[in-house]
Amino acid sequence: MTSQNPVAPLAGRVAVVTGASSGIGEATAEHLASLGAKVAVLARRADRLTELVSRIGKNGGTALAITADVTDVQAVRAAADRVKVDLGGADLLFNNAGVMLPAPIEELATDQWQHQIDLNITGLMNVIGAFVPQLVEAAAERGVGDLVNTSSITAQNLFPNFAVYSATKAYVTHLSRHLRMELGQKKVRVSAIEPGIVGTELQSHVTDDGVRQWLAGSKEIMEWLTPEDIAHTVGFLASQPARVNLQQVTIMPTGEAS
Ligand SMILES: NC(=O)c1ccc[n+]([C@@H]2O[C@H](COP(=O)([O-])OP(=O)(O)OC[C@H]3O[C@@H](n4cnc5c(N)ncnc54)[C@H](OP(=O)(O)O)[C@@H]3O)[C@@H](O)[C@H]2O)c1
Repeated sequence: MTSQNPVAPLAGRVAVVTGASSGIGEATAEHLASLGAKVAVLARRADRLTELVSRIGKNGGTALAITADVTDVQAVRAAADRVKVDLGGADLLFNNAGVMLPAPIEELATDQWQHQIDLNITGLMNVIGAFVPQLVEAAAERGVGDLVNTSSITAQNLFPNFAVYSATKAYVTHLSRHLRMELGQKKVRVSAIEPGIVGTELQSHVTDDGVRQWLAGSKEIMEWLTPEDIAHTVGFLASQPARVNLQQVTIMPTGEAS
């Protein structure tokens, strides 16, 4: 990439966004499209993806809906094949699908532990496995590629009852640092984005009463981030000159202490 169009800095780029049917992924897909990227949007809810693709199209962008469960390695590989054939291969991956199910460890909510590990770690790795070859190939041809993984402030700080979720996100941040070392030499920038609390569907999946009350209380005393705040941050990362890798971004609500 030698020169950028200032109005559409991502023109000519092909982005893949996982977890694109709601929240951070949905807002980021729309924003990347508005910056000129063609965007493949992945999630399980086909109806939500269809609406998103149509909205992006109405706003002058190009998007492709791919219904896939990222914990299904074959489905993710098939999605990657489709991106290659239909859009010419990804050079920007926003690896974002995830779930947060905090609860005291002594509740032994082992199904929820497994769900978080399966999606936040194994799903994330399935997506990396399917798309890294495209990122490397595209970076060699187009001069830059981006792998942006959604981590969380919980990767750094301690939150009561968030042990399993936090550990999955610590995995994401640490993995990202290592991958940056490997893939940077191939012109693929790797970043971890670590948001504090963002108002999305994420909180609605929480089943533990204590955590639900804590979330409700936090909403009273601070203004949460919006999905668009994260979308703009991802757009900013991907719009940097090819030599610049913003490797880790922590983005917090102004009123959130830790
Ligand atoms: N909101 C926050 O406060 C916050 C803070 C820090 C980090 N994060 C992280 O941000 C990421 C996005 O979360 P969000 O806040 O935007 O929550 P969200 O609105 O619940 O979005 C989660 C997305 O993941 C998708 N998804 C869930 N299971 C999937 C599966 N098996 N296969 C494919 N897609 C799947 C969901 O779509 P389908 O159900 O249609 O599949 C949805 O699009 C997550 O990694 C989360 O951990 C969120």
